Amino acid sequence: MSVLVIGSSNTDLIVQLENLPSPGQTVMADAFSTLPGGKGANQAVAAARAGAFVTFIARIGSDAFGLRAMRCLETEGIDTTFVLRDPDLASGIASILVDRRGENVIAVIPGANAALSPVQVDAAATLFERVSICLLQLETPLPTVLHATGLAKEHGVPVILNPAPGRKLPPRLLSDLFILTPNETETEILTGILPDSEKTARQAADILMDLGVKNVVITLGARGALLASARETVMVPAPTVDARDTTGAGDAFNGALAAALGQARSLADAVAFANCAGALAVTRVGAQSALPRETQIRALMDQRPH
Ligand code: RIB
Repeated sequence: MSVLVIGSSNTDLIVQLENLPSPGQTVMADAFSTLPGGKGANQAVAAARAGAFVTFIARIGSDAFGLRAMRCLETEGIDTTFVLRDPDLASGIASILVDRRGENVIAVIPGANAALSPVQVDAAATLFERVSICLLQLETPLPTVLHATGLAKEHGVPVILNPAPGRKLPPRLLSDLFILTPNETETEILTGILPDSEKTARQAADILMDLGVKNVVITLGARGALLASARETVMVPAPTVDARDTTGAGDAFNGALAAALGQARSLADAVAFANCAGALAVTRVGAQSALPRETQIRALMDQRPH
């Protein structure tokens, strides 16, 4: 499977602490780490570790963080030909607090990610002639996401959009998507319905299908995912694990989903594979550092009841 990921690269500044502080509160923390992140880069690494050949289009700064992020991508065997180093802007940064239950809060300073333009995607347009699937998120400018989706459509390349961070989206974008993968909060932003039960998840998926999305996969954390397609609407459960850090779980899910689509017998199988990748990712601290490999995902898949 050949996956094109277009999106952000960040360096994650991670503070682990007992409880997330309230506004105005100062708390003492347990540990600090600096690790590669960014939803685009995380999903590129997740897809590569899950078995895909990945090309990544991104924009980083010419600083030490950008250099380190690039090295991490190269170590994963990702094609970085179209990862540009901006001469003026700093690399993206994410400030992340993670509590002992694995919950997090994240603030992103986009830096060079904000300059990933349609022109830069055009410079890599020939990629759309040879990739099997295109995977996008919303940490880079929306006009670039729209432009990439248009190019993918022209070339008959299916698009997965992970609508994170959540925001309202134009109907013309939704109707061009092969798969949309919102989590609970993103689903509420897009549909007005919080999917806190299977019934409400089905209602939200129906709204998105009515807007023209071909397949909707609502990720529901430990509950798994709801898959809605023209063929079926089913809950795909996730394996139970001990969560240490939920950062990057959605990225593990999306990268693995893209990697699995060429190999899985059905979309439901691909979602089950992605659920296992997401579950494994929450058992370790960090985003890219926690992403599982194909063999680990398959081993967890094999443990599911058949
Ligand atoms: O999805 C997790 C990612 O969100 C982190 O790696 C952080 O960089 C932010 O982009």
